[in-house]
Amino acid sequence: MRVLLTGGAGYIGSHTAVSLLEAGHDVIVLDNLSNSSPESLRRVQRITGHEVPLIIGDCTRQEDLEKAFQCGSRIDAVIHFAGLKAVGESVSMPLDYYSNNLDATFSLLRVMKKNGCGAIVFSSSATVYGTNETMPLREDFPTGCTNPYGWTKWMNERVLTDCAHADPELRVVILRYFNPVGAHPSGEIGEDPNGIPNNLMPYVCQFASGKLKTFTVNGNDYPTRDGTCIRDFIHVCDLAEGHVSALAYAAEHRGAEVFNLGTGNGYSVLEIVHAFEKANGLELPFRFGPRRAGDIAVCYANPEKAERVLHWHAKRGLEEMCRDAWHWQTKNPNGFRGAQ
Ligand code: NAD
Ligand code: WQD
Repeated sequence: MRVLLTGGAGYIGSHTAVSLLEAGHDVIVLDNLSNSSPESLRRVQRITGHEVPLIIGDCTRQEDLEKAFQCGSRIDAVIHFAGLKAVGESVSMPLDYYSNNLDATFSLLRVMKKNGCGAIVFSSSATVYGTNETMPLREDFPTGCTNPYGWTKWMNERVLTDCAHADPELRVVILRYFNPVGAHPSGEIGEDPNGIPNNLMPYVCQFASGKLKTFTVNGNDYPTRDGTCIRDFIHVCDLAEGHVSALAYAAEHRGAEVFNLGTGNGYSVLEIVHAFEKANGLELPFRFGPRRAGDIAVCYANPEKAERVLHWHAKRGLEEMCRDAWHWQTKNPNGFRGAQ
């Protein structure tokens, strides 16, 4: 298939581009580069030997999307990664989040329809499970969010589902990612956050490298086995492979279907810290601090539906996640900035 990746220059999109190319698909990317660098796609080419055409444009603008659809031969399917994703920022800039993340989907659906493209895979998030306390989380559990970013995912799920019900030609797969971490084993592509990272693994990497001087574990009084939060960390290459399976499903099935992409294993923040130390032969002299506002104690997936229906499951373990994250960090201390 020929697949358009919106937001494909970003962290998950670039890894997915590698998996798609390796599976024999053709890939084209539309990205406004608001949170990424074109260097990521040059690296994808270095890994796979395939060039990835990049249209620099905004997914909220139908004319930019049209450029992607007019570039080269017919687009069979879209994987829609484009979006703003920082939870804290979404609380202070809700309108930017709602307009970017929703307008992008509205424009995309219109342009897809106009160009006879009926298959879309959407990047959603475990954040739509809100404050559910029953674990592991299954796709039919109640949803509801605690921040504007989460609500944009929730609303996009609704929009896509309603559109799929109204249009018999539309085939929607919604993927709820848990906590993607790690990098391609080549160390060529990885997560490249702007400024001080919000998320655990990139923070740990920059602390281990000496770029950040202190590392605080947020809360050790949660009702968990060691008092720290538990999450379902998933290797980004496993996540990328999940998209190849989702695409095959979307090509064949009408309507809308939701899948968790997680491992089903919950690891605590302390377990991540110790796994990182062991995998990379390092010490991380952390300190405990207060809880971070908005954090829930435990969150992990029931991945059975993806296994049963998509024939996909995560294969890589915690050691690989920690080793590959550190390999990317040491090979690219400044991310894609100043890259050769
Ligand atoms: P990322 O920021 O690395 O990638 C998103 C890409 O979208 C960036 O390259 C950015 O430049 C681009 N973009 C943003 N708005 C755009 C627009 N209007 N037009 C064109 N391009 C636009 O993020 P990521 O971690 O690769 O996440 C990809 C998707 O997965 C996002 O939708 C995110 O919300 C979702 N997601 C991410 C995580 C995570 O922890 N990384 C978890 C769950 C869901
Ligand atoms: C994990 C744990 C932190 C940094 C976020 C989004 C979610 C999804 C994935 C997009 C928490 C703790 C962190 C640090 C720490 N993204 N921590 N010290 O919050 O589970 O999920 O990314 O959809 O929507 O909310 O991931 O990596 O930020 O945090 O102790 O320096 O690590 O408090 O307990 P989270 P995270």
